[in-house]
Amino acid sequence: MSHSQARSINETLREAAGRIQKEDATALMRWVLDVRDTWLFLHGNEPMPLDAAERFAAAVQTRAAGTPLAYIEGSRGFWSMELEVSPATLIPRVETELLVEAALAAVPSEGQVDVLDLGTGSGAIALAIAKERRNAQVVAIDQCAGALEVAARNASRHALTNVRFLKGDWYAPVAGQQFHCIVSNPPYIREDDAHLKQGDLRFEPMGALASGEDGLTDIRTLVQGAMRHLMRGGFFAIEHGYDQGEAVRHCFENAGFVEVRTLKDLESRDRVTQGFKPTH
Ligand SMILES: C[S@@+](CC[C@H](N)C(=O)[O-])C[C@H]1O[C@@H](n2cnc3c(N)ncnc32)[C@H](O)[C@@H]1O
Repeated sequence: MSHSQARSINETLREAAGRIQKEDATALMRWVLDVRDTWLFLHGNEPMPLDAAERFAAAVQTRAAGTPLAYIEGSRGFWSMELEVSPATLIPRVETELLVEAALAAVPSEGQVDVLDLGTGSGAIALAIAKERRNAQVVAIDQCAGALEVAARNASRHALTNVRFLKGDWYAPVAGQQFHCIVSNPPYIREDDAHLKQGDLRFEPMGALASGEDGLTDIRTLVQGAMRHLMRGGFFAIEHGYDQGEAVRHCFENAGFVEVRTLKDLESRDRVTQGFKPTH
């Protein structure tokens, strides 16, 4: 019997916790063994199976080198769904659920509703809205082909047939079309922000994160195009950085949006700004 076979699951976990964070080691162990926390608690003294030990060791090494947990596992929970993610997609963040909630408050649950998600990545926002509003027809756009492939697989995985994915630069694939609701979580980090070179962000696509000198280049483009692509009374909401609320509200107001307000995330920081196109 090899050394790793003789070692228990708990011993293997303890050893890994010296190299990566304990929570990450536990998450990787759950993933490798395909079990839940309760199982680990009850079976921790059992020997670590050899094949799982090898996969666990490789995963710990990859995590120790910095690769985000979600890219190792190939998935991340968002809203009520487990979504595939890849290095072509941003890892969906819990803050973004605020944008979904804002959209759901504005999208009726009956009748024909056309929704647009700009910069869909893994499809997180588009799929959450499509799931909660089966009456909605959702169009989701991204310029990254690799992200759109992942998003399309996520739609199939959750049997959501009311989402269409299009490739292109922001509004270009929907020229001349209008929607009841437009949402976006665009890139909004300043391109010289030191965080881009730290932690998980180092591994995420730069095209999903950085947006010009002040982080607002894409937001300005999106706000400018929104009026043209919204029906009268239509709803528009954008996720942004915690320190961009005021600047984004000004952009919305200058573009002619009404009832403009900024919503705060779970940590009470400005996170989503929303507004409506006037009804007349
Ligand atoms: C911050 S990520 C958001 C991903 C996803 N919506 C989410 O919330 O997890 C921004 C996304 O916008 C896409 N993107 C960046 N520039 C774009 C452009 N000019 N046209 C279309 N999509 C773009 C990126 O590829 C990326 O998927």
